[in-house]
Amino acid sequence: MKKYYNIKEIFINKKKLINKNIIIKGWVKYFRNNLFLEINDGTTIKNIQVVLKKKNKNIDIGITLKIYGKLREYNKKIEIISLYIKKYGKIDKEYFNNSILQNKFHNLYKLRQQSYLRFRTKLFSSIMRIRHLLSIKIHKYLNKKNFYYINTPIITNNDTEGIGEIFNVTILNIKKKYNNYKDDFFGCKANLTVSGQLEAESAILGLNKVYTFGPVFRAENSNTNKHLSEFWMVELEMMFYKFKNIIKFSEKFIKYLIKVILKYNIEELKYLEKYNKIKIIKLLKNIYIKKFIKISYNLVIKKINKIKKNLILWGSDISTKYEKILFKKIFKKNIPLIIYNYPKKIKPFYMKSNKDNITVKSFDIIFPNVGEIIGGSEREISYIKILNNFKKKNKNKNINNIKWYLNLRKLGKIYHSGFGLGFERLIQFITGMKNIRDVIPFPRYPGNIN
Ligand code: 4AD
Ligand code: MG
Repeated sequence: MKKYYNIKEIFINKKKLINKNIIIKGWVKYFRNNLFLEINDGTTIKNIQVVLKKKNKNIDIGITLKIYGKLREYNKKIEIISLYIKKYGKIDKEYFNNSILQNKFHNLYKLRQQSYLRFRTKLFSSIMRIRHLLSIKIHKYLNKKNFYYINTPIITNNDTEGIGEIFNVTILNIKKKYNNYKDDFFGCKANLTVSGQLEAESAILGLNKVYTFGPVFRAENSNTNKHLSEFWMVELEMMFYKFKNIIKFSEKFIKYLIKVILKYNIEELKYLEKYNKIKIIKLLKNIYIKKFIKISYNLVIKKINKIKKNLILWGSDISTKYEKILFKKIFKKNIPLIIYNYPKKIKPFYMKSNKDNITVKSFDIIFPNVGEIIGGSEREISYIKILNNFKKKNKNKNINNIKWYLNLRKLGKIYHSGFGLGFERLIQFITGMKNIRDVIPFPRYPGNIN
């Protein structure tokens, strides 16, 4: 019969395992009276108590152990009465006591400085379990809705969003100033991708509905709590989808993901609630139940200016400052806002123009606390309009780099839409973490590549 069980299995199968001799392997989280160990093995947020046969002074917190013993129920809790213990090596006490693993409060900044050890903390392992389940369920949901998962390139020569904040990829000696990238690896200037959207648009021509789910890179020098230089994005592209339908789809998609976490990660959420001192579970339930508020950009500007005359100019981006006004002073309900029909001049070249020719069929879904989680649009299908938009918005960029994209419009006027979901922003919202750097294993941001 099987002897070794991970701690998650033990809690699930406890009825069957009571009074049986079993083996566990895990590390010591707490040690009381030289007798009681709390062991965790990373498979669940829960620790299991192990009672030693006799007092032992030589067990260090943090050490990894193999324990053989009898599982029993005591005071309605399960515990293991140990019969045999093996230590896996030794703990370097000086290293351990200077690390974030020492049992005392460490602030998030300190945790970040030792990102390679964060996985052992209850906080970060809880966030990672939520992150994991979200990834799995994203694939599951989209597969069920007949999407194909495609992998778009990491190295490219386009700048989809036209924000110009790209990381160059080069093998040239950077000390020399090159104007001519013919000598470079790809024979032209190359960069890390900011989005897989353009490639996804080509893929739907043969696959109907596709999504990408991978890392994207932005060299924005934004030292904020919601920007990363390397983040993960889910980008969906759907053939025969109009603007209204893509918005509906995105709302359903987010609600499904929130429901999943409420169902499977409730223990983690309870812990995060305590840690972050916000009522996340109630907030999530509310978002799951209530319809998102849909409002045009024009109306948003009017509402903000009602608070104070000329607070915001038509044509400005709705920055964090205004998002706060929307949630705290105007809507006050903590329900996501779907803002649509943004001014053409502040959105990328690929978005479909509205009839007014000054706004585009774009939408952003803005969440309380973290801001924009989703950005999407119906795509422009007119060759000439895309060409003109590109020329206007990307004055110093080479049109040849997106010629292939333009040429897709030579296959007919096939309407389609898509959006990108910032994976870490979603996790940030669900976990209630204040800083996006705490929801990705190894965060990259200006000045940091730890
Ligand atoms: O709004 P963005 O820039 O849209 C696109 O890249 C489109 N190509 C998507 C598409 O239609 N296929 O980015 C999408 C989302 C944002 O809504 C935000 O959640 C997240 O990506 N995001 C970031 N997350 C972390 N750090 C950053 N620096 C981010 N910039 C955008
Ligand atoms: Mg956006």
